[in-house]
Formats: sequence, C-alpha cells, structure tokens
Amino acid sequence: MTQKIAPADGKLGVLLPGLGAVSTTLIAGVFAARKGVAQPHGSLTQNGTIRLGKRTDNRSPKIKDFVPLTPLEDIVFGGWDIFPENTYEAALKAGVLEPELLAKVRTEMEAIKPWPAVFDRKYVKRLEGTHVKKGANWMELAEQLMDDIRAFQKQHNLSRMVMVWCGSTEIFLSPGPAHQTLAAFEKAMVENDPSIAPSMIYAYAAIKLGIPYANGAPNLSADIPALHELAMEKRVPVAGKDFKTGQTLMKTILAPGFKARLLGVNGWFSTNILGNRDGEVLDDPDSFKTKEESKLSVLDSILQPHLYPELYGELYHKVRINYYPPRGDNKESWDNIDIFGWLNYPMQIKINFLCRDSILAAPIVLDLALFMDMAGRAQMRGIQEWLSFYFKSPMHAPSVYPEHDLFIQLMKLKNTLRYLKGEELITHLGIEYYD
Ligand SMILES: NC(=O)c1ccc[n+]([C@@H]2O[C@H](COP(=O)([O-])OP(=O)(O)OC[C@H]3O[C@@H](n4cnc5c(N)ncnc54)[C@H](O)[C@@H]3O)[C@@H](O)[C@H]2O)c1
Repeated sequence: MTQKIAPADGKLGVLLPGLGAVSTTLIAGVFAARKGVAQPHGSLTQNGTIRLGKRTDNRSPKIKDFVPLTPLEDIVFGGWDIFPENTYEAALKAGVLEPELLAKVRTEMEAIKPWPAVFDRKYVKRLEGTHVKKGANWMELAEQLMDDIRAFQKQHNLSRMVMVWCGSTEIFLSPGPAHQTLAAFEKAMVENDPSIAPSMIYAYAAIKLGIPYANGAPNLSADIPALHELAMEKRVPVAGKDFKTGQTLMKTILAPGFKARLLGVNGWFSTNILGNRDGEVLDDPDSFKTKEESKLSVLDSILQPHLYPELYGELYHKVRINYYPPRGDNKESWDNIDIFGWLNYPMQIKINFLCRDSILAAPIVLDLALFMDMAGRAQMRGIQEWLSFYFKSPMHAPSVYPEHDLFIQLMKLKNTLRYLKGEELITHLGIEYYD
C-alpha cells in the first residue's frame, strides 16, 4: 500500500516557543548550511540514507530524496521568549557557537525577534522574564498565541507550519482531572486552573490551528488525554517528550548491547555538570524532578527487569545534574556502570562524555520539524510513535510500553518511511540469500 504524501510545496514556518541555546543553535545552523559555510551533521533528514529492497539491489537513497521533505531554503523561523533579545543576541549569550560563525549569519538572525511569551514563574522558578503576554486567563493567552501564528503565516506567505517546544523545563505535574477531556481542559483554561502549564497553552494553540506539535522538554505539555483528543479531532500529529541527547543517548546505545549479551547490571550511577540556562533551571528541585523521571524511565524499559529478574532486578540507577556555571553549554558527564557476567563475575565500565548539549539537540529539532510536517502531509494524526528515536520519554498509546532501544527506534522510523512509500518492510531475515 502507498500512502499519499502531499508535496512539500511552498514555505514551512517553524515555530519555536523558547529561543534559547537549542533554538538559536538550530537557526544559526540552518542559515549556515544554506550558505554552505557549515555542515548539518547529525541530521537524518539531511544526511541519512535508507536501504530499499534486497541487499543485492543496491538501492540506498538519501532519506530526503526518498520522501518529500521541505528543503532548508524553504524554512522560515519564528518564536517566543520571555527575554526580548533577537536570535543573534540570544545565540551570543548562549555561547554555544563561536562569534566568527554567528557573524556569517548575523543579518538573518537579527531579523528574528521573539514575540512576548506565555509564562508564569510558578512553573519555571529560576527564570524571571519581562517579555510576557498579559491576559485574564489561559484561554485569552492561547488566543493571543494564535494571533501571533496567523500574523506570521500571513507575513511570510507560509503554506504550512510546525511547532517544536524548546522552552525551559517546567515543574513536575501529574495528569489530573483538568487534563482528561478536551471539555474539562477548556473549562480549566478559562478558570485559570494551576494544573495547566504554559507549554500546554502553546500546544493547545498549535493543535487548534491544525499545526503539528512536538515537545523537546520532559514536561507534560501535549502528553495529556485532552490534547490527544484535540489532535485526533483536528487530525494533527503530536510527538514528545524530551530530546534524547548526551548521557541518555549513550544509555540507549549501551543498554541494548548489555541486554543482547545477557550481561547483568546492578548499578548505574550518572552525574553531570552543566552551566547553561537549562542547567540553572534544572537546579530547581521541581524542574529537576520532571527531568529525573524522564531520565530514569529509560533503563527500566530497555532492560525489562520483569523478564530478566536475575540480571536487572536489583539495578540501582541514580542520576544527578549539577549546575556549574564555568562549563556553559559544554556539559561533562560521568557514568559508572557495574555489570556482571559468567558465574556472576563483576566488571565495571566508566564513561566520561564531554558533550555539547545544543550541538546534539539542534539536528533533532530540525528532523522533528521536517518529519512532523511530512506526517501532516501524509494525513497521520495523533501520537507519532515512529519518532520515538528522538525522545527520552517517547509518547505512546496507553496500551503499549514505550520503546527506548535506539536501534529498534531507528528501524521503526525507517520502516514507517518505507510503509508510507509502499516499499517492502525490512525484517533482516536474509535467508533468501542462501537458498
Ligand atoms: N540541549 C539538550 O541537549 C536538551 C536535551 C533534552 C531536552 N532539552 C530541553 O530543551 C529545552 C531547551 O533547552 P536549552 O538548552 O535551549 O535551554 P535554554 O534555557 O537555553 O532555552 C530555553 C528558553 O526558553 C525560554 N522560555 C522559558 N519558558 C518559556 C515560555 N513559557 N515561553 C517562551 N519561552 C520560554 C527561556 O527564556 C529560554 O530562553 C529545555 O527544556 C531542555 O531541558 C534540551
């Protein structure tokens, strides 16, 4: 079966709530790649290939030549922040990219100025911003966001839009009564219910306007039944949560290997030092709790202690994030992993990863924007589980557990693309080569 994917004609607006380190690294990177002054490494949509048919067929086109994706030239960025700086100033402040590189895309970046944000300090305690909308209740604020979006579309004559939340991590919230149905949620918006957080207002505004929404932070945002309902009704794709970068990326690469070789794990201690604004926000215990839940869930789900109690039943997993300003965006993480093998003999693995958070996150935002837009054109709606590859806490149907294994996630993503184009799915059986 071939599912029709409408062509990627015209311009695509990429809406970014939160124009901080990740967003500005993405925007600068796209402008630099367009000018040919830097390479968009780490992005499947730009550089990934996909094998089609049998290994003997030698068909491995680039993904962007296989499915219709918006070219970088047709992307227009817009966004909101609680600080009024344009994206050039914000990028300089974030300190991820060198001033020499930013100078080459300065004019384009200066032109992108954030619209005032929907923000309440109750949800991100470490930040205080001045560039914030005023309104009587959440519903009024959602209307103001929708006005921004419509004006942006008109100004740039956009054919389509997508939204990717790149704002700060909000405090931990559990799904409550106001989140269960769309009717309850809309009523709670009018009543300014405190169980509704700003990121939910952005998600609501996007989905209401038929715009695909992905969430790069661990806060609930669109991952509540009320917004799933709205997404199904409006036929809008949604995805989340929490970009999979850094230490968790390494975990989802290593843990499937341990399980494949049936090596036991009885301890995994992970610590980080991080000095950017994200680190400062995560220094608040309520925001950290949201992140911690997201980071902790990964190992349990990959190692499946209920299936392998003797190997993973006693696993002690600890994650720490320490705010340490001198490091800026260049995070350093240490992992100590206590494993055991044949006859219970113990072994240890130490990982010291000197990573750059936003360098790992920017291509994820680009891929999500392009794939979510394509999903919309392919009439896919609701949770896009095939994009789990990009997330620490993938959104999933209530009936299934989330898939965290990076390699299964990649297979799922590529098989979804094959499925959409009516190509044979690849099972890796391969027995036919030996007949
Ligand atoms: N960098 C990574 O590797 C990575 C990985 C996973 C998740 N994330 C998440 O992505 C998000 C962005 O990360 P970052 O490093 O760019 O952080 P950042 O602090 O540099 O940027 C976040 C921006 O969002 C703004 N903001 C906060 N609340 C807002 C609101 N309600 N509306 C509009 N703007 C708002 C802040 O002012 C800030 O400029 C964070 O939630 C982070 O936890 C990042």
